[in-house]
Formats: sequence, C-alpha cells, structure tokens
Amino acid sequence: MDPDQLKQIRERIEQVHDPDLGVPLGALNALHDVQFRDGQLELYIELIPPLQWVAQPLDRACREALAELVADTPVQLYVRERPISRATPSSILPGVKYLLAIASGKGGVGKSTIAANIAVTLARAGTTVGLLDADIYGPSAPTLFGLQGMPLHARKDEQGRVLGIPHERYGVRIVSMGFVLQREQAAILRGPLLAGYFTTLVEQVEWGELDFLVFDLPPGTGDIQLTMAQKVPLTGVVLITTPQELALADVRRSATMFRRVNVPILGIVENMSYFTCPHCGHREPIFGEGGGRQLAEELGIPFLGQLPLDPLLQRASDEGIPAVEHPAGTHFRHLFADIVRELVREIRRHCYRTQAPPLEISL
Ligand SMILES: Nc1ncnc2c1ncn2[C@@H]1O[C@H](COP(=O)(O)OP(=O)(O)OP(=O)(O)O)[C@@H](O)[C@H]1O
Ligand SMILES: [Mg+2]
Repeated sequence: MDPDQLKQIRERIEQVHDPDLGVPLGALNALHDVQFRDGQLELYIELIPPLQWVAQPLDRACREALAELVADTPVQLYVRERPISRATPSSILPGVKYLLAIASGKGGVGKSTIAANIAVTLARAGTTVGLLDADIYGPSAPTLFGLQGMPLHARKDEQGRVLGIPHERYGVRIVSMGFVLQREQAAILRGPLLAGYFTTLVEQVEWGELDFLVFDLPPGTGDIQLTMAQKVPLTGVVLITTPQELALADVRRSATMFRRVNVPILGIVENMSYFTCPHCGHREPIFGEGGGRQLAEELGIPFLGQLPLDPLLQRASDEGIPAVEHPAGTHFRHLFADIVRELVREIRRHCYRTQAPPLEISL
C-alpha cells in the first residue's frame, strides 16, 4: 500500500465519530497508528474507557468509512483504553476507574434496587464492578443478593493492616454496612461515627482493580453524603426519583447539594413510572407522566431512563436474585441495559469534557 493511500485511510478514519461522544476520532486524537502488514490493514485506536459499548459500533463505522477505499483488504481494528488521569490525584481507591453514587432526596424510591441492577448489568457487560452499600440504617445489599447473616471476612496485608474481603455475587464485589453493623447498633450512631464506618468500608476493603465502584447511598443529604463528597473522588452521581411531585422536589434539593460540593450529576432515572397490565399489556402512568424528564430538562441533567412499577422487583429481592439475573426478568435485562448504555455515554462525555485537551479551533 503506498503512503498516499495510507494517508487517505487515516483521513477517512479521523472523520469517523466516536459513537457515544459524537466527536470525530481526529478531534479526539484517537487514531494512533495505521499500518499495512501481512496483507491486512491494521488500525490502532485509543479512546476514553469504558469501551465495551463503543467497540462494536465503532468497528462497523470504521469499516463502512473504508469500504470503497480498501474493498479487498481485510481490516483489523485494535481499540484500547486511554489511561485515565484523574483531575484530582487521589490516594483513595487508586485502582478504581469510575466511582458512581446512586442517590435520592427521598427514601424508598428504589436506589438500592437500581444500584444493584446497574452493578450487575455492568458486570454482565464484562467490566469489573464493586458495590458499596453505604446505607447504615437500612442496608439492602445483603437482601438483594441473598447474603443475609454473612460476616465480612478479612485478612492482613503485608503492612499488617486488616482488609475486608468483599463477597462476590453475579460478578459484583459486594460490601455492605450490613456485614459489619447490626441495625440496632446503627440506629444509635451519630454523625462522625457514621462517617468513620463509611470511610472504613471505602479504605479498608480489598477492592482490587475495578472499572466501576457503585455506592448505594442512604436517602437525603446527611453525613454520609457529605463525607463521601469530600473524601471520594466521585466520577458522578445518579439521582433516582419517582414521578410524584414530592419526590421530584426532593431531587431538586439533592441536585443542589451535589452541585454545591462539586459532584457532577450524571443523570436522573425515574422509577415506578408506569404499570403494565399483565392481561392486556396496557401501560398506565400511575403517578403522572413525564415528570422525571421534565425535571431533568429543567435542571440541565441528562435523563437516563424509566423503570416500571413491577412486583417482580420485590419478588426478586425476596429471593435474593437481582431482577436482571432473575429467570422472569428478561424485560429488566433490556431496561437496565438501556439505562447503563446511557449512563456510560454520560460518563465518557464527562471524562472527555474534563480530561481531554481542549479542541483547537482556528477561525
Ligand atoms: N419499580 C419498582 N416496582 C416495584 N417495587 C419496587 C420498585 N422499585 C423498588 N421497589 C421496591 O420498593 C422498596 C424500596 O426500594 P429500595 O430499597 O430499592 O429503595 P431505596 O431508595 O434504596 O430505599 P431507602 O431510601 O430506604 O434506602 C423495595 O421493597 C423494592 O423492592
Ligand atoms: Mg436503599
């Protein structure tokens, strides 16, 4: 292949858009190398992770872009992760790429259910995931994953520090306040002590290398939320709401708090949005329609999706199986896959905005 042809190939590929970010690979400085070797064309591309969701559509787009140019030449794409440089270098959780918190202003809107299913969905997509159930008063992870009564095992590292070892279910490393504290004990704990327990779970657990660590938070804007915002270099927070007016007002408050402490808000998920009649398939928006999306627009936050009111979530929780793994949960596998795809797109967009060098514009 002559140099002119390679140059043309390079130009075409640089015009292909990153499927999530909607930005050309050229502007992202993503095309590392183009080589012609052993009768095949090799493209080396480097992008902001996670890439599980981008690799396939990108592969397709690059092949389409080259279709006329190299009709008979086999094309091989090598897509690898661009190393992440954190905006604030942190000694806390250095082995974790993305730290996500699931929060809400109001209690009982489905945070824990959604955190668990998002974590499992991420794991199903081939990423390494941890889940930290930070709800001291009402830990949920033990119930949702069938881990009740399980103690947290520990070991000593080389420096003699005691490290908790997460339980693993459905590919998710799980640690819960419920493993270390009884509910009755928790009820009498106050501010600084609570924060201390939370910090212990973050710092003294052998999380290992993770793509994602998901924090399931207690409701409201209390000590745990503030400790987390100060100590943990969060990638961002996902807010959960239901369509009722009261829950929406609580989201506003929650959004304001996270903005004050500089935690990016990645999006809103609306839970219990509608009920699908099991007999006729009719979708009834029981608590009103469009509230979550409207609020998201008003607050300038991405809307990540809706989930139905569905008794399966309760049943799955009673059985200790996350809905996306439940034999009757096919629809939830699809719903959560869609939500996670949106979420991952927002994470990559956010990292692009904060970490990539600014685009050079010549006028
Ligand atoms: N979409 C849904 N349809 C039916 N039941 C649901 C749905 N979402 C959550 N639930 C149920 O509602 C209850 C509360 O959910 P969950 O514990 O996830 O909420 P939470 O926001 O974490 O609550 P808390 O504020 O107490 O931590 C659970 O019994 C759960 O099974
Ligand atoms: Mg909860």
